[in-house]
Parts: sequence; C-alpha cells; structure tokens
Amino acid sequence: MDSVRLVEMGPRDGLQNEPARVPAAVKIELVERLAECGLTHIEAASFVSPKWVPQMADASDVLTGICRREGVVYSALTPNLKGLEAALAAGADEVAVFTAASERFCQKNINCSVAESLARFTPVLQLAHERGVRVRGYVSTVLGCPYEGDIPPAAVARVAGELYRLGCDEISLGDTIGTGTPKKAIAMLSAVRQEVPLVRLAAHFHDTYGQALANLYAVLEQGLGIIDSSVAGLGGCPYARGATGNVATEDVVYLLHGLGLETGVDLNQLVATGRWISQQLDRENGSKTGRAWNK
Ligand code: HMG
Ligand code: MG
Repeated sequence: MDSVRLVEMGPRDGLQNEPARVPAAVKIELVERLAECGLTHIEAASFVSPKWVPQMADASDVLTGICRREGVVYSALTPNLKGLEAALAAGADEVAVFTAASERFCQKNINCSVAESLARFTPVLQLAHERGVRVRGYVSTVLGCPYEGDIPPAAVARVAGELYRLGCDEISLGDTIGTGTPKKAIAMLSAVRQEVPLVRLAAHFHDTYGQALANLYAVLEQGLGIIDSSVAGLGGCPYARGATGNVATEDVVYLLHGLGLETGVDLNQLVATGRWISQQLDRENGSKTGRAWNK
C-alpha cells in the first residue's frame, strides 16, 4: 500500500454537534476550502430529521451552494428514504446509511432496532443504486458503546456483514466514543474482515481518549486503506454524550506523510483551513499538528 484515501468528516460529523447555529455560508466555505486542500471525499451534510439534529437543517442549502471541484465526491448521511430523496435532489454524489453494533445506541440515535434499521435501508440502497449513487454504511460503537460498554468483535462483524450483503459499497467502522485501543481495534478488524473485504473497509475513529492515531496505525498495519477524519478534530455525536471529535485530519496527514504514504493533501493549506474554521466557531483548534505547524 502506498496511498491512503481520506474521507473528510468536518462539515458533517464535525459540525452536527456545534451548539450555536453555523451559517450555511460558513459550511459552504469550509467544504470548498477542504476540496482546495486536495481532499477528494467530503461528507458535506446530513439529511436527518431537523428535530433530532437542528444543526443539519440547512443540508440542502449547503449541498446546492457548494462551488464544486472536479474529481471531488460530495456525500451526505441519509437515514431513510425521505433523507435520500432530499439528498439526491440536492445533488449528493454518494450517500451513507448508519446503524450500530449495539442495540441501545441504535435506539438512541435513530429510534429503531438494528434489525429495523437494516430493513429501512433496503429501499434506500435500491433507489440510490438505481440512480448510480454509491452507498456507504456506518457501523457505530465498534469499540465500545456509551450505554452497553464493551462490544464483542463478532457483533460488529455481524452488522458489518449484513450491511455489505445489503449492497453497501463501503463500510465505515465507527469508534463513536473513542474508547478503543490498538489491540481491540485489531481484534475487531480481524473479525470484520471475515465478512467484508478489507478494501471495502474504512476506519472512523473519534479521539475522546487520545487513542485514535494509535488505533489508526494499528489498522494501517493490517492493510486498511480508508480513513475518516475531521479538520481541526471537530465534532462529536449528539447521541453519545461526552464524545469528542473525529481524529484530526491534519494529524492523520502528518502521520501518513511521515510513513511515506500519499494522501494528495496539501498540509499547509489544511492547517490554514483548520485554523480558519476554529476561529469561525470560536473554539480551540483540536489538531495538535494544526497548533504546532509553523512552516
Ligand atoms: P423518528 O422520529 O423515529 O422518525 O426519527 P419519523 O419517521 O417518525 O419522523 C419524525 C419526524 O421527522 C417527521 O416529521 C418526519 O417527517 C421527519 P413531523 O411529521 O414530526 O413533522 N423526518 C425527517 N425530516 C427530514 N429528513 C429526514 C427525516 N426523516 C424523518 N430524513 C430518524 C427517525 C432516523 C429520522 C431520526 O432518529 C434521526 O433523524 N436521527 C438522526 C440522528 C443523527 O443524525 N445522529 C448523528 C449522525 S450518526 C453519527 O454521528 C455516527 C457516525 O459518525 C459514525 C460514528 O461515529 O460512530 C456516522
Ligand atoms: Mg462519527
């Protein structure tokens, strides 16, 4: 492996939990700046219920407002057909369904059981594929659940396998609350890859306990080649209290370039973007590289 594909989460996972309403113009500028940094996959918005996640209520304005860059995939979360139809109308290039390895988190996050979520996704996958749109499937709580604690790797593998068999083109494995450690991450991945080819798997690690980079290094060593991250380490999940953002994209790029792996990302520009959005949100930059960088 000589390159890694990064999937940028800042505009969606990063902003969904911000307490103050972020204007659509700022979200649009963030997406455009991230594309200029060389990021080719950007999760730009989320077509969920505005009652559940008010910050994403302007998803259509954001997706339709972006000045698109050729070669960049702009994706969105779609929990059901209503979300998919709105995302397609707004021009999403790719969509994502999301469920969990633990029942209680699934109930809190999308108000249904894991089995019900999979049934709900069936028509979503059908329609998306009819329209030629790729579908990503997220499994949350793969290394721990805020309500159930430890999650057996076999439980993660079962849900990931079901999403794959339903037709998801890629499965992203979410350490939603960042409690994983490298050995656990390897055990989880070893179980999941029995069900889903490794090339279809992405790591989506939150950095709540400062373990995300170590966990990423562990799964990179196993051959995983798709990483989700969020500029300036923005984010958290509204239904996982206390969880902080995804691992910072700047820190991941610094690690990958240090390992001699290509990302196509201009780190100077990325650091500038992380500083800009932190200022816009009036919050501390969550990227260590972003704080230290002085080139
Ligand atoms: P529900 O209340 O069971 O659904 O919510 P419902 O079908 O009864 O609908 C309730 C209301 O929402 C209705 O409106 C619907 O029209 C509306 P009302 O009649 O009351 O006025 N509605 C919608 N509106 C806009 N877009 C839609 C939509 N669907 C229904 N798509 C539902 C079920 C799934 C909708 C809700 O639970 C929900 O939106 N949940 C989303 C929660 C969420 O976004 N969480 C964060 C993202 S997941 C995450 O961060 C984890 C991840 O990063 C990976 C990781 O880190 O682990 C991906
Ligand atoms: Mg997440």
